[in-house]
Amino acid sequence: MLWESKLAETAAEELIENVPLPFYEQRATLVLQSHDVVAEKIRLIDDVTEGVQNTALAPGSLIDEQYELIEIIGRGGMTIVYVARDTYQDSDNEVAIKILNPRFEEKTPELVSMFEYSIRMNKMLTTDRFPEYRDSGVHAGYEYVVNEYIRGANLEHILYNYPNAIPLDFIKDIGIQLCYAIQDLSLAGMVHRDIKPSNVMLTNKGEIKLLDFDLIVFQEHYGEYESNELLSSGTATYMSPEQCSHEIKSGNEDREDEMIEEDDEEPSIDSRSDIYNLGATLYQLATKRPPFRYLKRKPMLQAHMIEAPAPLTEIPKPLSQIIMKALEKDPENRFQSAAEMRRALENLGH
Ligand SMILES: Nc1ncnc2c1ncn2[C@@H]1O[C@H](COP(=O)(O)OP(=O)(O)O)[C@@H](O)[C@H]1O
Ligand SMILES: [Mg+2]
Repeated sequence: MLWESKLAETAAEELIENVPLPFYEQRATLVLQSHDVVAEKIRLIDDVTEGVQNTALAPGSLIDEQYELIEIIGRGGMTIVYVARDTYQDSDNEVAIKILNPRFEEKTPELVSMFEYSIRMNKMLTTDRFPEYRDSGVHAGYEYVVNEYIRGANLEHILYNYPNAIPLDFIKDIGIQLCYAIQDLSLAGMVHRDIKPSNVMLTNKGEIKLLDFDLIVFQEHYGEYESNELLSSGTATYMSPEQCSHEIKSGNEDREDEMIEEDDEEPSIDSRSDIYNLGATLYQLATKRPPFRYLKRKPMLQAHMIEAPAPLTEIPKPLSQIIMKALEKDPENRFQSAAEMRRALENLGH
């Protein structure tokens, strides 16, 4: 294991110590720090916590007579994540429960099938780079999935709360471990398509776990997804030029747009897109800012396609070259596999 050395483990602990755990117990402190992004997240969690009060999903409720909800720890577009207790287990009984759409009235069949799809992906990813699947079901009309609870912090929390520059060894090790995760995905024929700081957890043992299976696609079946909305989504800040070009094309089928060059070739997506997402994540870890900063989605997508990220002057050249190579616009100019990128990172030395 990469974080075997005492030093590395201490480093992970130090990083995590500097972020509040559990995150929401310290919301007051965080709001005081008043970082916009963090404050906004807390506001959303508070909002959602209030929204589930007096419902079957209020903290304290029992799900399917087995899982006792403790508190809300995350909120995505369509889901809420709780830490919960598996009452069938005596010890080591904390689990994470992700519940679909608890406050959004319109639960469409598409949404349910997307959730079920991500559960299938979760079950297929059995290596220790991903949260372990435990159970799933429907409680009081709400679909849920149970995963092992990961003790640690997601990288977004670390980015916004760790006061200093993130140590280079840490950036390198995160890169290496995420390359292994991409290798696992790629072996299964999958592309994750949403690698970004909030989807990566650092455990207090220094291991990295890649979360969020909502956007995984099978490379082999890529053509079959064509009309699927699934393909047009992603987190703009980290999206690869191929993801962006797909979205721009499919979003503008009906109208002319000067920005888009005519190109008959369908954009296709493979692991090199995940390598780009990883490059954007590492870029942000190294500088505390993402490669591009646009508030609106469309300029952000266009930047990924045509703009060069500001040079990484903060970090030594060998590491910055690796990150910049992962961020190449043309997949042919990136690392051709996660294994290749991993070896480059491993060869950096200390
Ligand atoms: N198994 C887990 N253990 C601990 N925290 C988790 C776990 N799964 C998710 N989280 C937390 O919840 C947040 C949202 O989870 P994620 O799976 O990314 O859902 P979404 O699809 O809603 O983004 C994550 O950023 C992480 O902080
Ligand atoms: Mg997520």
